[in-house]
Amino acid sequence: MLYYSIDSPTKPHNIIIPNDSITFRGWMTNAAGTEVQLHVTQPSGKKIITATEKRPDVVSALAEQAPNTPELCGFNFDIHYEELADTENETEKKVTLAFSDGTLTSNIHDFSITQFTSMQWGGVNDIAKQTARADYKNVWNNLAAELTGAKFAVAGYTDDAEFHRTAVVQMEGFEKTVGIKQTDIFLEIGCGIGRIATILADRVAQWIGTDVSENMLKHAADNLKDKNNIKLVPTNGWDLAPIPSNSVDVVYCAVVFMHLDEWERFNYVCEAKRVLKPGGRLFINNFNLLSEEGWQLFLKTLVEYHPMERPPFIGKSSTRHELIAYLTRAGFDSIQTDETGLWVSAWGVLPG
Ligand SMILES: C[S@@+](CC[C@H](N)C(=O)[O-])C[C@H]1O[C@@H](n2cnc3c(N)ncnc32)[C@H](O)[C@@H]1O
Repeated sequence: MLYYSIDSPTKPHNIIIPNDSITFRGWMTNAAGTEVQLHVTQPSGKKIITATEKRPDVVSALAEQAPNTPELCGFNFDIHYEELADTENETEKKVTLAFSDGTLTSNIHDFSITQFTSMQWGGVNDIAKQTARADYKNVWNNLAAELTGAKFAVAGYTDDAEFHRTAVVQMEGFEKTVGIKQTDIFLEIGCGIGRIATILADRVAQWIGTDVSENMLKHAADNLKDKNNIKLVPTNGWDLAPIPSNSVDVVYCAVVFMHLDEWERFNYVCEAKRVLKPGGRLFINNFNLLSEEGWQLFLKTLVEYHPMERPPFIGKSSTRHELIAYLTRAGFDSIQTDETGLWVSAWGVLPG
């Protein structure tokens, strides 16, 4: 008996975007616990996908039906649009997926582009779809119910090496902007699973991670369990109420503004001012509408989603002038900005 699930093609489209791809996630196993493969047939040829991800959730869910299920039963792979059949009718672009363990084969899916679209929202995301953007707590607790989903929501991938690489890039960004001192208390707004703290915490006196999602904070606690100078604080999604005034050296908010409405963006800048000590530093960033990469991301959402179907967490851009306005209006000095690739960053110092 084969058991399998395709949890999500995570990037459904109804319009083909050159160089784009769809990520498929799911799991596969059989009653005997022998290796199951996923055979992906595209016009460009056949690929064999094997299980590479740990899925303890599946092992426990199948404890009765398939007690031999190995923990390594999850898969995660991309299909590039350009590898799909190039017909005049885009809806005929197809890929066939078959699960096989050498004895049994289940030919389950002929995906077409339109089917990708209809599979856009399954499972937990149904709840997110019906939720208002500003209901940050429900939206993000849903997305972060399990670690794989949380990683996708944070970064769009699950690869730990890539998490490490991007955290190093962010650290280099801090070094060039707000600076990092061993005596500093750093506070992150929207810390997710603790991607940045895995490196940053060792270089500062204390790291405080705040997030609206208690589920994200649980994953962060697991990731950072070997650190003894961290504190994780759930927040309401609008302010930093649990953090005392005048208590922190550096506040940063990275890869979060895109998910916030403008009022929350500004409110967090004002809250940063409150919790920072005199002379404290603030760093914020977002994807940049004025960059080519940012513009392409903006267009992608335009073509992917009907206005009534846009998910509440969809990324919305900033510009240099928007970020400068927040820092200036909140009362920061020495404001500087950087525009590199997809990103626009701004930082400033609290007069002291
Ligand atoms: C894309 S992730 C980035 C996580 C982390 N900053 C990083 O760079 O790895 C966005 C994070 O912001 C959190 N978040 C979303 N809305 C928030 C809000 N209104 N207040 C605080 N955190 C929020 C989410 O729960 C999620 O952990």
